[in-house]
Amino acid sequence: MTETRHIRIFDTTLRDGEQSPGASMNLQEKLEIAQALVDLGVDIIEAGFPIASPGDFAAVSEIAKNFRGATICGLARCNEADIDRAWEAIKQAERPRIHVFLATSAIHREFKLRMTREEIIQRAVAGVQRAGQYCDDIEFSPEDAARTEHDFLCQVVEAAIAAGATTVNIPDTVGYATPAEMGARIAMLRNRVPNIDRAVISVHCHNDLGLAVANSLAAVENGAGQVECTINGIGERAGNCSLEEIVMTLKTRQDHFGCGTRIKTQRLVPTSRLVSSITGLQVQRNKAIVGRNAFAHEAGIHQDGMLKERSTYEIMRPEDVGFARTDLVMGKHSGRAALNDRVKALGFHLSGEQLQKLFEEFKVLADKKKEIYDGDIVALIDHELTGVQNGEWQLVAFEADSGTGRTPRAKLTLRRNSQEFTEELATGDGPIDAAFFVVEKITGVKLSCRAFEARSASIGRDAQAEATLEVEHQGAIYRGRGVSTDTVEATVKAILNAVNRISVAQQ
Ligand code: KIV
Ligand code: ZN
Repeated sequence: MTETRHIRIFDTTLRDGEQSPGASMNLQEKLEIAQALVDLGVDIIEAGFPIASPGDFAAVSEIAKNFRGATICGLARCNEADIDRAWEAIKQAERPRIHVFLATSAIHREFKLRMTREEIIQRAVAGVQRAGQYCDDIEFSPEDAARTEHDFLCQVVEAAIAAGATTVNIPDTVGYATPAEMGARIAMLRNRVPNIDRAVISVHCHNDLGLAVANSLAAVENGAGQVECTINGIGERAGNCSLEEIVMTLKTRQDHFGCGTRIKTQRLVPTSRLVSSITGLQVQRNKAIVGRNAFAHEAGIHQDGMLKERSTYEIMRPEDVGFARTDLVMGKHSGRAALNDRVKALGFHLSGEQLQKLFEEFKVLADKKKEIYDGDIVALIDHELTGVQNGEWQLVAFEADSGTGRTPRAKLTLRRNSQEFTEELATGDGPIDAAFFVVEKITGVKLSCRAFEARSASIGRDAQAEATLEVEHQGAIYRGRGVSTDTVEATVKAILNAVNRISVAQQ
């Protein structure tokens, strides 16, 4: 048996992941994700960029204060104000880390920073030393390292480690490298930087050419001890290295890599679902590890092989990544204990109060729908956990109709602070458009719809619909989600969810 090298999993879903267009999250949502990341067993949570906004600062400090079991990291550019602010946000963490970055490639030095190589080294050293006045765990990233000249990269890395950096992260900021290049770059740093043994080498790959996971694995093969990644691979542009793919590759091919992580892999699917429902960024069906089809065998020849011996066509077991072994059907006679068992089998941990609320919603659903599948339960849990149903405006009742040659009509009754408002309009090009007009009329909030999607949460004609949309209001984009067996009702709930986010943002 080969010795297993521990690879640290540095999750940046809440920082680089949040930089995905349209994926910004509110405080409550960030706390939900932080809890899921702790439960998943990540080593480091990059909780945000504290100087970026008061909201970012508040989220990082709440996470630092409230979560134990993972290192909590705050990002800072290489200047005093950023570093001081990052420390202020993370100082209550059990294990705080400051992550300082400064671009080093010629293109960034010349056009973005307008700094010489000497100035870059001085600034990097000063930044790391400043962070070192606050804590011992300091990560330094030479931004765009994958396009930085080898000699200069070695000089910067050596200087940062001498100044106190305990992790040096090598980002492929623009997703330009190939696996062979990334591997060679890490090997080069290990060979040429004299003090490299005093720091952990990390890798941070973007996915512009679809190579983020392959590049990160090449870095690991050449000695990197930390991988920076995000749930579902979300992040700037084409995203970051996907956490679930890197973790399952290291686990499934332990024979090849000789490395392991401390991720509880059964939590991968629930965490992926949570991040997807919070950010509104849906996971493609054929996505490796967590996609709906990742373990579906369609071809007869494959099904036959699977029945005879699973390993003919299956290299991982679905239950090892958190897919429930069977899609057990529940219904109105199922009790609380059975629901609780199913919730646990799906990988969720609910408080007594959350379970009670879920059970009430489950009973309402069971009256409308004979058979309740895992997808329906997950949709209800997402709804409950992410607090989608909370907010200033609540839906009390709706009516909508449309037909060939008829003007669509929507009538809504909404509640705010126990006062009810009813309006009806016959307008628009369909019942959803009409519902938008009615919501605008009652709430006074102008909305322009940028994206809208409705999909079924499980199987069958009576499946619950999950509606997700993005609206623009005064130049900012807000997401909304809603769930119901009625697609129009799910959409109205999603519109109200977006309106409620707007009102929170304006407080
Ligand atoms: O992509 C990048 O270079 C980054 C740094 C801040 C590490 O996200
Ligand atoms: Zn990045």
